[in-house]
Amino acid sequence: METPVAPAKVQVLSGKKLALVAILRAGLVMVEGILKLVPHARVGHIGLYRDPESLNPVQYYAKLPPDIAERRVFLLDPMLATGGSASHALALLKERGATGIKLMCIIAAPEGLERIAQDHPDTEVVVAAIDRHLNDHGYIVPGLGDAGDRIYGTK
Ligand code: PRP
Ligand code: URA
Repeated sequence: METPVAPAKVQVLSGKKLALVAILRAGLVMVEGILKLVPHARVGHIGLYRDPESLNPVQYYAKLPPDIAERRVFLLDPMLATGGSASHALALLKERGATGIKLMCIIAAPEGLERIAQDHPDTEVVVAAIDRHLNDHGYIVPGLGDAGDRIYGTK
């Protein structure tokens, strides 16, 4: 590559190009960190919120890179609780042709991991911590509460 001063020999990552897909809202914080390492990754957004009664995901937005099928995809959400949101997002990504998707989370409940294994056995899940269980309101115990509300100060 050309630096502003001279040509330089550098290393490049091999393999497919990367797409980061954030489940809104909380997934956005993981995008920021990964873009520092891989600044040329394309970024997609899937807007979902959990219905407070049914705990089922409600989709309000989806915008993905048009060549998503040709990219390696990291689906990002810090919280995997019932697994409903991640399962919905994975189905949408597959509908758009994505393959070999990696789901990356920070805290997961065993219930959510089981749901993903059932609905999407082809998906590799990377998680930093597996907490104990879900409470009656579908929150991870001990977890950290509602990640989106805590990050953005909306409660
Ligand atoms: C949170 C979290 C996940 C989802 C996990 O988002 O960021 O997307 O809940 O729960 P699940 O595994 O049971 O589906 P939330 O729906 O609160 O939306 P927000 O990020 O906009 O607050
Ligand atoms: N969503 C969160 O943000 N936290 C939980 O514990 C469960 C779902």
